Amino acid sequence: MISSTRDSLRAAWHPIATRMDVPIGHLHVSLLFGEEVVVWRDRTDKLHVWEDRCPHRSVRLSIGRHLGDGMQCIYHGWEFSGGGRCRFVPAHPDDPAPAIGVRSYDHIERDGLIWATLSESKPTPPSLLPRQSTVTDRARLVLRPIVVNAGAAMVCAALKDDRGPFGAALDLSENDLRCVFGSATAEHGDKLALAIRPADDNRSVIYGVLAADNPIPERLAALRHHNDHLSALRDRIEAV
Ligand code: FES
Repeated sequence: MISSTRDSLRAAWHPIATRMDVPIGHLHVSLLFGEEVVVWRDRTDKLHVWEDRCPHRSVRLSIGRHLGDGMQCIYHGWEFSGGGRCRFVPAHPDDPAPAIGVRSYDHIERDGLIWATLSESKPTPPSLLPRQSTVTDRARLVLRPIVVNAGAAMVCAALKDDRGPFGAALDLSENDLRCVFGSATAEHGDKLALAIRPADDNRSVIYGVLAADNPIPERLAALRHHNDHLSALRDRIEAV
């Protein structure tokens, strides 16, 4: 039973980075269920999520070079195209590249976050904030990710019990580790949606998106408020 729950969790979509974490030219590393993935944008702004492992001798690709339209492994210099296929081997420049490629994962950008799934069955992509929310996309603010030294189930349980940021949770699903809180007042935003990334068995990352359609100083104050609140929640979880 426990393993089937874990399997269904692995097959779900999870946030692996914020949009700001992955500017063009940067190789961002994220950990999901103990698997390292490298997240990067090519020069056309197209996003790629790859296993962080060279298919030649398993060196981390994230310590390699961003080539604009592909990536080069630091060790033997094999080059991989944006599609993940090997296209050039420096030791054999006149030979065709071997038919080998990097494993890539399905991903999507939504609500200011980058989501990925380790599943090959292409589950339905997530929608964190309700689409019928009256706020515009511009007013969806991404909180600073909060790293917690605890497993995702413990973090999820703590979020369920927590009523600090807002009132009751509008929706909370333990299976996909997401919840949306609704606010009675606009002071700290309209809605706060949280999603947990299970980095490994003992580490999680909380991502938050706030719908706040008020003036910019108030939005910043709301962001600070929720960041402070979630940081305090993290401290309580880690103190257990
Ligand atoms: S390990 Fe990457 S090119 Fe050899």
